[in-house]
Amino acid sequence: MSVTELRIAIIGAGQISQSCCKAADKHDSATVVAAFDPSPGRLKELCDEFKIPTACSSAEDMLALDNVDAVYVAVPNKFHAPYAKQALEAGKHVILDKPFALSYDEAKAVADAAEANGKLFMLGMNQRYRTDSQKIRNLVSTGRLGEIYHAKAFWFRRSGIPKLGTWFGNKDLAGGGALLDIGVHLLDLCLHLSGNWNPVSVTGATYTKFGNRGLGEGSWGKSDKEDILFNVDDFASALIKFDNGATVTLDVSWACHAEEPNRNDVHLYGTEGGASTYPAKLFHYGAEGEDYQVVEDPEADIALEHADRFHNFFNAILGTEQPLTSVEEALTVQRILDAIYASCASGKEVRLD
Ligand SMILES: NC(=O)c1ccc[n+]([C@@H]2O[C@H](COP(=O)([O-])OP(=O)(O)OC[C@H]3O[C@@H](n4cnc5c(N)ncnc54)[C@H](O)[C@@H]3O)[C@@H](O)[C@H]2O)c1
Repeated sequence: MSVTELRIAIIGAGQISQSCCKAADKHDSATVVAAFDPSPGRLKELCDEFKIPTACSSAEDMLALDNVDAVYVAVPNKFHAPYAKQALEAGKHVILDKPFALSYDEAKAVADAAEANGKLFMLGMNQRYRTDSQKIRNLVSTGRLGEIYHAKAFWFRRSGIPKLGTWFGNKDLAGGGALLDIGVHLLDLCLHLSGNWNPVSVTGATYTKFGNRGLGEGSWGKSDKEDILFNVDDFASALIKFDNGATVTLDVSWACHAEEPNRNDVHLYGTEGGASTYPAKLFHYGAEGEDYQVVEDPEADIALEHADRFHNFFNAILGTEQPLTSVEEALTVQRILDAIYASCASGKEVRLD
């Protein structure tokens, strides 16, 4: 790759877009050169704060700029796949925020566009980059846990629905609620850590119990409050089975009655050891005569010291690092998410094999 100065453009000037600007500021070779958002106020705020020189009046104008190498897409979920595809077809590398898309078919069209145009496409699954996650991944890949036969992934927020009255709570704009917003993170992390990528069946249930009553609101999101219907899940639960006989349970809530305000983790159960991720801990038998071992902050190599999805994206384009995510894995996560909603709708197990 001949590019040494990487010129980034951003679609969406909401709350999360700052994370890309901050990462570019810290990176030696990346600069944010352009941004677009239909809200003139939010667009100006982002451009002023991060000294972005070009505020575009449309995504088309932005994607037509010759001085843009790569695009970060951070918009309501409905627009993820269309913008990602459009940017790839305009010859830009793309990092898209989660969830991938509103359906597998949409996601596959993006993957095909990346391949057809020879551009890098990455989903920004930031949980994979955390130091604790990288340690557990290393312990699993070096065999310290043996065969992983079960994993438990969860994220329980007591009162963490993004601002009520915004796109986050509306099915047309978001596609789904807690499951697509935070469940996707823990599902992806769980599969990444356990190394299980061949799901065969999914049973799921989703619930809407708080947002529809105006309860459980958190503070996330910069979009303006409007009179938008809340009609997505604020709680979801699923059982996923894999071709090697392993199972995963996933539980996620934007709002629920719980002791702690916010708790997420992936627990792994293996034949030779177990692990929890946040914080990293390893569990295994001691040597003969020793007690059972609970190892806090276990010794393990980490792949990427910078622990940042944007730096990984920039470096992957520059050819100095491998992406920590893959398109195939992102498609598998999307298939499972689709199946959880399908299982909830039908009341039946959904086969994926
Ligand atoms: N990786 C993470 O941990 C993480 C965290 C938060 C959000 N996200 C994802 O990032 C995306 C944006 O979330 P956010 O928290 O910044 O939301 P937000 O509501 O704060 O901002 C969304 C922005 O998108 C803009 N927008 C709306 N329609 C648009 C369109 N058609 N074209 C361009 N821009 C449009 C809005 O004007 C707004 O400025 C979401 O998909 C969300 O799931 C990821």
